[in-house]
Amino acid sequence: MLTHDTARLSTDEFSEPGDQAADDLRSELIAGLLCRQAHTSPKYFYDALGSKLFEAICELSEYYPTRTEAAIFDAHADDIAKSVGRGCTMIDLGAGNCEKAAQLFPALRPAQYVAVDISLDFLRSAVKQLRPRFPQVAMTELGMDFSESLELPQRVKRDKRLFFYPGSSIGNFTPEQTLQFLQRIRRQCHVSGRADGGLLIGVDLVKDKAVLDAAYDDALGVTASFNLNLLLHLNRMLNADFNPRQWQHRGFFNGAQSRIEMHLVAREALTVNWPGGQRHFAQGESIHTENSYKYTQARFLALLAEAGFRKPRVWTDPKNWFLVCHARAA
Ligand code: AVI
Repeated sequence: MLTHDTARLSTDEFSEPGDQAADDLRSELIAGLLCRQAHTSPKYFYDALGSKLFEAICELSEYYPTRTEAAIFDAHADDIAKSVGRGCTMIDLGAGNCEKAAQLFPALRPAQYVAVDISLDFLRSAVKQLRPRFPQVAMTELGMDFSESLELPQRVKRDKRLFFYPGSSIGNFTPEQTLQFLQRIRRQCHVSGRADGGLLIGVDLVKDKAVLDAAYDDALGVTASFNLNLLLHLNRMLNADFNPRQWQHRGFFNGAQSRIEMHLVAREALTVNWPGGQRHFAQGESIHTENSYKYTQARFLALLAEAGFRKPRVWTDPKNWFLVCHARAA
């Protein structure tokens, strides 16, 4: 099975990596491209244009997760707040424009809000705009790749931590990575050896294949553009010569693996070149660009329990398409 190494990161993280970091990213990318089943990490989707295309995806009628999750937060905010408790330290993983957390502020009334994203500049301006709307909440921003490490600085309070991970981004990890990630969160919810905190997470559920297929292969071709834009990003990162016109988007639900797979399929036999290397693709060969795992409620709750969380509370939409879950660290 392919393992993609991280979930969605953020907008312009690749704009100015240091020399060593850029070399590491290039080596990782080339190694993936040279595998028998070529693959890339989904983090490479999110250059400036990719981030805008993702925002457009969230507006599509076929892409139900964003609006379904927002409707669940809206309908159950008070109940969620009862489960979480007021005055938490809310740590928003992949905060982006911080709007999903802000939607819950009136109900949750966090004491501290910690927005975490890899793109610190973007985050700073989002938090700056949020402060005057919620002057009673102490806010801080952290630029870090939380998929690698969750070690938080001292200024993040240790008590009543609520890790907030909405948007079903957890689906972009493999189930094995998901377990490790949840375990890391649980460890961060301990104060002097005692558990004091939890997780509020959005998870996309298994559903009819036709609905899932359409969500990742929409009629307007926005998801296709999002996928193909990756090639332009690779060209810039590797100084490569991918021609997006030679590639076709494919997004489909693989029921056996319970995941959406996105691929870029070569329309014709072609060779891609970069300084010091190349890869030939036969017609129909693909680059596997993303997995998006879909869970049953039971399977996700089992993973949470295995990671050391207890007392889960769940909220879903009337169609049972999406799950919001709060669980306490044990
Ligand atoms: C960011 N992530 C949760 C999205 C998903 O649904 O897996 C990324 C995405 N890929 C294609 N469409 C949306």
